[in-house]
Amino acid sequence: MFDPGFLWGAATSSYQIEGAVAEDGRGPSIWDTFAATPGAIQGGDTGAVAADHYHRFPGDVALMAGLGLRGYRFSLAWPRIQPTGSGAVNQRGLDFYRRLTDTLLDQGIQPWPTLYHWDLPQPLEDRGGWPARDTAERFAEYAALVHEALGDRVTHWTTLNEPWCSAFLGYATGRHAPGRSDPAAAVRAAHHLLLGHGLAAEAIRGDDSYVGITLNLTHVTPVGTEPADLDAARRIDGMQNRLFLDPLLRGAYPEDVLADLREVTGFGHVHDGDLKRIGASLDHLGVNYYAPMLVGGSSTPTQSAYVGSPLVRVADGGRPRTAMGWEIDERGLLELLLRLKDDYPAVPLYITENGAAFDDVVEHDGVHDAHRVAYLDGHLRSCAQAIGHGVPLKGYFVWSLLDNFEWSFGYGPRFGIVHVDYATQHRTPKDSARWYAEVIRRGGL
Ligand code: FCB
Repeated sequence: MFDPGFLWGAATSSYQIEGAVAEDGRGPSIWDTFAATPGAIQGGDTGAVAADHYHRFPGDVALMAGLGLRGYRFSLAWPRIQPTGSGAVNQRGLDFYRRLTDTLLDQGIQPWPTLYHWDLPQPLEDRGGWPARDTAERFAEYAALVHEALGDRVTHWTTLNEPWCSAFLGYATGRHAPGRSDPAAAVRAAHHLLLGHGLAAEAIRGDDSYVGITLNLTHVTPVGTEPADLDAARRIDGMQNRLFLDPLLRGAYPEDVLADLREVTGFGHVHDGDLKRIGASLDHLGVNYYAPMLVGGSSTPTQSAYVGSPLVRVADGGRPRTAMGWEIDERGLLELLLRLKDDYPAVPLYITENGAAFDDVVEHDGVHDAHRVAYLDGHLRSCAQAIGHGVPLKGYFVWSLLDNFEWSFGYGPRFGIVHVDYATQHRTPKDSARWYAEVIRRGGL
């Protein structure tokens, strides 16, 4: 059961919805550069206009209020606040987030900002990006500036969204910005992201200022009991979950994952004291969950985001899939939450993203997205069961409030509970939005 203080919310991120990429002094981010690279994004789409939230935020907040949301998770675009990634604040950029947080608070909606959802200022990438230690220090400086400006309005901060994606999709597979394919650089990036989180936490934690990080975690199972299958599951769980959870919650990298990664790089970039800072940094943990992973051993080496583990294949669990091709399995969320409770020190948990893309059809009387309602309902049932088993789950943010720019997939996949007509920017709440509003009103399913 969900207690009355459970934080019911929805999530978005800056580059995916704001647009206005050249307005009020915003500098370029790695996603502007990447999206302008031929072939990087399906259909050649970019975030230049997106859902035009930068101009339409008052209407969007009114929409949230209409749905009864208690919390809104959004991200701040670092290049709006520090257009070159360091130095003085661009007040006009900061003012946008001041107005947004004030408008949310006026409506009784808790602002739940993420400091970094992938839009690194391009000049910092030009100086080495996340594989360079300096970026972690710049991030902490940026965090301190934002905290100073918004600390009177915001209590719960998220430093990074999904550092796994930033590191391994950004620097190993090159499917995300900045589009580099350098596995050793990706491993360094992962550490510097964690370090940046730790340094930022030191800078902003305090009375009434709580710090979390959002990880994309999953539930990994082996296809069989062959040693190669068990090893594949250990490796993927290691890279996807433990490489981040262990330093954050236990203050140490998992030895087996370090051993796998030594094939790729040494660890000279991990300095004395780094893990102490990373390991003492969390007031809460954000969990993004979309799908489970079924994996097995393979005899054909493949390059993937799971660097250091080429002999792994992802298997088909035979379940229905979303429009992203992701298998739908709410049991995976329950298993994941129970595992966090069993394997790690207790820390308040929030589901900071969960949701699904489907091929929505706009009909004369609305968008009847029964598949999305079923997906959300199933996953919220898992949340309720987890709470029943003693998991300290305190909130849930559906991904996403609005249809938006889905990274390398462009505007094709629609994750919103509110439909966006990109030609007119007209918003239409889907059936799932109405259903969710009712869940919030009742305080549960
Ligand atoms: C997550 C991202 C989010 C969105 C969803 C579908 O990995 O954090 O921005 O793209 O996936």
